[in-house]
Amino acid sequence: MLLSIKDTFEDMSREAAKLIADRIHRKPSLVLGLATGSTPLGLYKELIRMHKEEGLSFAKVTTFNLDEYIGLPRTHPQSYYYFMWENFFKHIDIDRRYIYVPNGMATDIEGHCEWYENEIKRLDGIDVQVLGIGANGHIAFNEPGSSLGSRTRIKTLTEQTVKDNARFFKSTEEVPKTAITMGIGTIMEAKEIILLANSTSKARAIKEAVEGPIMAMVPASIIQMHRKAYVIVDKAAASALTHQFNG
Ligand code: GLP
Repeated sequence: MLLSIKDTFEDMSREAAKLIADRIHRKPSLVLGLATGSTPLGLYKELIRMHKEEGLSFAKVTTFNLDEYIGLPRTHPQSYYYFMWENFFKHIDIDRRYIYVPNGMATDIEGHCEWYENEIKRLDGIDVQVLGIGANGHIAFNEPGSSLGSRTRIKTLTEQTVKDNARFFKSTEEVPKTAITMGIGTIMEAKEIILLANSTSKARAIKEAVEGPIMAMVPASIIQMHRKAYVIVDKAAASALTHQFNG
């Protein structure tokens, strides 16, 4: 695991964007795993800039998003599909046919989850997976207690996650209580992982993920087992770490 502590959110975002741009240059048909939330917004902004100003092309890139709320159509402003479209996809030259986001309106959710896993396999797996982290240590919607070997499936959100995500909805009641999420086993099969975190609200989760024991109660701690994981954080998110060194 490579830990990189940056001064600011912008520095953190730039470092992650550089890494992804490098992988796209090496393999234009990169399979890229993407996350939602406020954390990767700076990364998407920087990748858009690189596309517009430096000619970084996503034309052959395939993307797989980590998760989606159940019951929200793609046109709902709080659906993750809508989020991705507004904050990233509509600004770059990605081919719509190569965008995968779980469908929260699927009639056969279990069948859909199986199909999603098979599509990842068909494309020889995810090359680079971007992750954020929940304040309770969750990754994607794998809440504390999730099996560390889990695959894409339905998960019920914890009260804390519903509360954390309520800021995007009119009220807590409107936040969907279930979601489709890639499993921890699915995420761990990505060839490289980039975990991003900023602000003091993530300091405890980062400490537990990076320095704590590996356990299902802190899903992000499994990243310690990955052979090529980059943890890129700002100073605030690193503030609770005992070992504050880069490398
Ligand atoms: C949600 C998403 C996660 C994300 C987390 C943190 O629960 N499912 O993938 O990492 O929120 O979000 P934020 O980056 O806004 O703190």
